[in-house]
Amino acid sequence: MPTTDEREATAARLLKISAGNSYDPDVDIDWRAPLDPQRMFAPAHRLSLYGTPLWDGLDERQRIELSRHEVASIASVGIWFEMLLMRLLLRHVSDQDPRTGHVQYALTEVGDECRHSIMFARMIEAFGTPAYRPAPVERALGRYLGATAGGVQTFAAALIAEEILDALQREAMADDSLQPLVRMVSRIHVVEEARHIRFARDELARQVAASRRGLAGRVSLAYSRLMIGRAAWTVTHSLIHPGAYAAVGLDPARARAAAWANPAFRETLRWSAERVTSYLQELGLVEGPARRLWKASALL
Ligand SMILES: [Fe+2]
Ligand SMILES: [Fe+2]
Repeated sequence: MPTTDEREATAARLLKISAGNSYDPDVDIDWRAPLDPQRMFAPAHRLSLYGTPLWDGLDERQRIELSRHEVASIASVGIWFEMLLMRLLLRHVSDQDPRTGHVQYALTEVGDECRHSIMFARMIEAFGTPAYRPAPVERALGRYLGATAGGVQTFAAALIAEEILDALQREAMADDSLQPLVRMVSRIHVVEEARHIRFARDELARQVAASRRGLAGRVSLAYSRLMIGRAAWTVTHSLIHPGAYAAVGLDPARARAAAWANPAFRETLRWSAERVTSYLQELGLVEGPARRLWKASALL
């Protein structure tokens, strides 16, 4: 069957790229270099309050501080998501033949994500901020997804989180006004995530095509659309922890409401996800009742 050959061809290509271009954050990052107190941690126009009256009320030092906490929050949620993805990938390959390139590449990706999570953790440590976490209900949903997700949900959820982070990090790594540590971490992550995104895109298309073949698959596809829409909601609503606002002296509930009403922040979310949103639309995964979740996530 051609899909098996395609699957193995993708895996062979990605295994070769991984062997030739992988980083070791332990040696590739200078962890002892001090942070520059004058530099932002993210471009100002990507911060959630940018352009709001609350933003206008912050001085330069508070804006830098907000950028430090927002990036720490995104990295913390990134770790949470990568840990979930590692569980999903291991479940995905547990019953498959380990001699295949597909299984070996999935294990390679688990290895990448493991290094990424340690890299993000050390970056947050270097920032001196808390490790922010998604809300308890989102963490409960994550545990549920981690225990139950099939292939469609696994690779769609992976793509949503990976593509959003990728868009933000591509911009950060190219911006020489930012903290060098943020730029280097972003660069390493962008290089290694490019192959994860390729893997998830190809596998997701195959999983969706396979589900369409039978009635049971079509029923489970309808359920998957809802779960994927809910995952999108979790990602956008967890990115910026309200504690980031409290860290610069703002009322967290008021600032969070201002961020969600901020057209610039909503546009940042939509922009960061536009590649994955349009791909999932092409695959018919953003249809029916799930569209409401995508709209509430600010991604449509
Ligand atoms: Fe990663
Ligand atoms: Fe990844």
